[in-house]
Amino acid sequence: MMERTDRHFRFLLRLVTRRTRLYSEMVVDRTLIHGDPPRHLDFHPAEHPVALQLGSGDPRLAARAVAVALPWGYDEVNLNVGCPSPRVQAGGFGVVLMRRPERVAEIVRAVYEETGVRMTVKHRVGLDERGDYAFLARFVEVVAAAGAQVFVVHARKAWTEGLDPKANRTVPPLEHPKVYRLKRDFPELTIVTNGGIASPEEARAHLEQVDGVMVGRAMWNRPWSWATADRLLWGDAHAPDRRALLERYQAYLEDRLAEGTPLRPLLRPLFNLFKGEHGGRRWRQALDAALVAGRLPPGGLVALAPLAEADA
Ligand SMILES: Cc1cc2nc3c(=O)[nH]c(=O)nc-3n(C[C@H](O)[C@H](O)[C@H](O)COP(=O)(O)O)c2cc1C
Repeated sequence: MMERTDRHFRFLLRLVTRRTRLYSEMVVDRTLIHGDPPRHLDFHPAEHPVALQLGSGDPRLAARAVAVALPWGYDEVNLNVGCPSPRVQAGGFGVVLMRRPERVAEIVRAVYEETGVRMTVKHRVGLDERGDYAFLARFVEVVAAAGAQVFVVHARKAWTEGLDPKANRTVPPLEHPKVYRLKRDFPELTIVTNGGIASPEEARAHLEQVDGVMVGRAMWNRPWSWATADRLLWGDAHAPDRRALLERYQAYLEDRLAEGTPLRPLLRPLFNLFKGEHGGRRWRQALDAALVAGRLPPGGLVALAPLAEADA
């Protein structure tokens, strides 16, 4: 998620769940080719498994961008065919590519031929007047024929005009049964559903029908509510502890500060950690105060956290 799943938030999430796969913000092909790759690609080894999401509508540029990213060792490269923002539409990528499955197939093929990476594809169930299942199924069929094996489907269609990106994440209704149907029709593919999944329990219910779930906003809004995910979804006995999490994040933060990372992006992922709990508001205020002061008080994050209240 843009402005959300940067490396610092991903590191924090990795302290909440060990098993989930984390996704980067979307990075546009030309940004990787002409920009500052370490700025967009560096990550902490603890983040694995971690996926890089690419925005591209051009097979040649996509292949070059993936070649740039290759030495970083991402576990997956995902193509964004779901974003309806006007800027992305103008660039000829994102959800408008759903109308051009052959083009997406060319991208998948070119990337594989140049780099050996089999891209995964994130898309919607449709766009504009094409909300019919046949349109969706044809898209998957054509792209799968080019070698893609994993499809992450945001289970609502997008309107390319008249709705801004935020409204495009709430107004079109969720249609998870369409994604379930894809799994039935393409049993050999890995089908992942996405949209409105608010808890590990809800995720588990979807997993009866599909191979995976992707969670966006609920991870940002209530990261700690996913602390039971490893146990509920993988049967992992490990249960994270918020004090230990804060101690490890503090050590991470100090390492990044020493490298010259500003405090703000390092504290930003922490704001919702106690959301809805006793002391949650005071925690946010304390983080705000640290930002104004430009440093954490002695004792660091653990000293600021309402741990006693939260555990009581
Ligand atoms: C702030 C924000 C930024 C997002 N950025 C991306 C992005 O870069 N790439 C992408 O595929 N989806 C992006 N999305 C969409 C989410 O990945 C997801 O498909 C959508 O929010 C529905 O899932 P959710 O209900 O679990 O959030 C973004 C969503 C939000 C709220």
